Amino acid sequence: MFFGAVQLGIMAACVVLFVPMGMAGWHLSRNKVLFFSGALFITLAVCIHLIPYFPSFFPQSQSPTVLFQQDHRDLCVTLLNNVNFSSNFDNFSWNWDTSSGSYDCDFQKLGRVDVSDLLNGSWVVVAGDSQARLFVMSLLDLILGSDKMILIHEDLFKRHSDYHIVVEEIGLKLDFIWSPYVTNLTDVVTGFKRNRTYPDVLVMGSGLWHMLHFTNYTDYGVSLQLLRESLFRSFPVSRKFDMESDAGRALHLFWLGMPTLINGLLNTEEKRVKMTRELCDAYDHELYKSKLLRRDGGSLLLLDVESLSRRCGVDCSLDGMHYSDVVYEASVHVMLNALLIESHQKL
Ligand SMILES: *[C@@H]1O[C@H](CO)[C@@H](O)[C@H](O)[C@H]1NC(C)=O
Ligand SMILES: *[C@@H]1O[C@H](CO)[C@@H](O)[C@H](O)[C@H]1NC(C)=O
Ligand SMILES: *[C@@H]1O[C@H](CO)[C@@H](O)[C@H](O)[C@H]1NC(C)=O
Ligand SMILES: *[C@@H]1O[C@H](CO)[C@@H](O)[C@H](O)[C@H]1NC(C)=O
Ligand SMILES: *[C@@H]1O[C@H](CO)[C@@H](O)[C@H](O)[C@H]1NC(C)=O
Ligand SMILES: *[C@@H]1O[C@H](CO)[C@@H](O)[C@H](O)[C@H]1NC(C)=O
Repeated sequence: MFFGAVQLGIMAACVVLFVPMGMAGWHLSRNKVLFFSGALFITLAVCIHLIPYFPSFFPQSQSPTVLFQQDHRDLCVTLLNNVNFSSNFDNFSWNWDTSSGSYDCDFQKLGRVDVSDLLNGSWVVVAGDSQARLFVMSLLDLILGSDKMILIHEDLFKRHSDYHIVVEEIGLKLDFIWSPYVTNLTDVVTGFKRNRTYPDVLVMGSGLWHMLHFTNYTDYGVSLQLLRESLFRSFPVSRKFDMESDAGRALHLFWLGMPTLINGLLNTEEKRVKMTRELCDAYDHELYKSKLLRRDGGSLLLLDVESLSRRCGVDCSLDGMHYSDVVYEASVHVMLNALLIESHQKL
């Protein structure tokens, strides 16, 4: 049983008060009672101050420092998406918003070597639409460097196709799976179950295609529900984001959010008419209702592209829907820092 400091203090006070009073009942003089009281008080005070040095005498469920660290980690994860952008003409840069207290969290922009260490031997799967493809581009840019990126750029950007790469030097396997709709994501998830192989990191996200071609938020909500159910059925998914896969490895799940749409910049009349602010809000609300995200009680950690792109601003958007690389770069670093925090690693 765990004795808190408060309970211990109250117990000590009772002993100091009642033991001498009890003794007084045994015909002790007032001086003797005072003497016993004082002696007991000093003994207890000494004991209490010695407790921290002999923690093994006091069995505890979890030490307060571990609990504190866990709380601190959870807090830091919630602050990860607070990123500020600044621009110098067309040159955008970003950094974490330290005014929200995140400086205690040691968020860091990881370099190539750090990322290679972190993802060494991992299997990363990213499934989604063009936003997810841009996310993959930023991740590979970080891992391979811009020289090698030029070589693979064309293959990576083949319209509506998957992309697979193995980075031999660090044994990293990266799959991009073209999944414009949530139903496609569900197929990916059930595919893992069928094959009995699970990636270490799974990043998913979709919604824009559904918004444009179905324009029915209720239906989007239904498909998110089905995705959630298939996640529960396919993965040993607990309510936590960081869970064990069959091999006992941790499995990290992320949701790549939709960007902020800037209606006036959208490049077709159909998009401008259908993809309104109200519809975006309705789609957002369906995501919330689906409880897929960890902040809503689910298991996926949100890479908040909506907030990142909004903070980057209108000038940062190319066509009201796709944004400058800097937004996807920031979301990659949000993911990497979440992985660092969740795996309790510090570089
Ligand atoms: C863009 O900004 C970054 C950081 O602010 C700086 O290092 C880089 O030299 C700038 N590039 C150009 C082309 O101005
Ligand atoms: C980041 O932006 C927010 C508002 O968008 C502002 O309040 C905050 O001071 C900024 N932080 C830094 C470090 O510039
Ligand atoms: C990756 O891990 C393997 C062993 O797990 C190690 O031999 C190798 O040096 C690591 N590579 C990098 C780039 O960290
Ligand atoms: C994605 O799902 C849609 C609608 O369910 C389907 O028509 C399409 O073939 C799927 N695409 C892929 C790449 O699986
Ligand atoms: C499952 O295995 C098949 C055959 O090896 C492969 O083509 C497919 O991509 C795998 N699916 C997943 C989701 O890993
Ligand atoms: C929207 O989707 C729901 C659920 O799939 C369906 O019942 C409803 O008929 C759809 N509404 C329209 C206008 O297509």
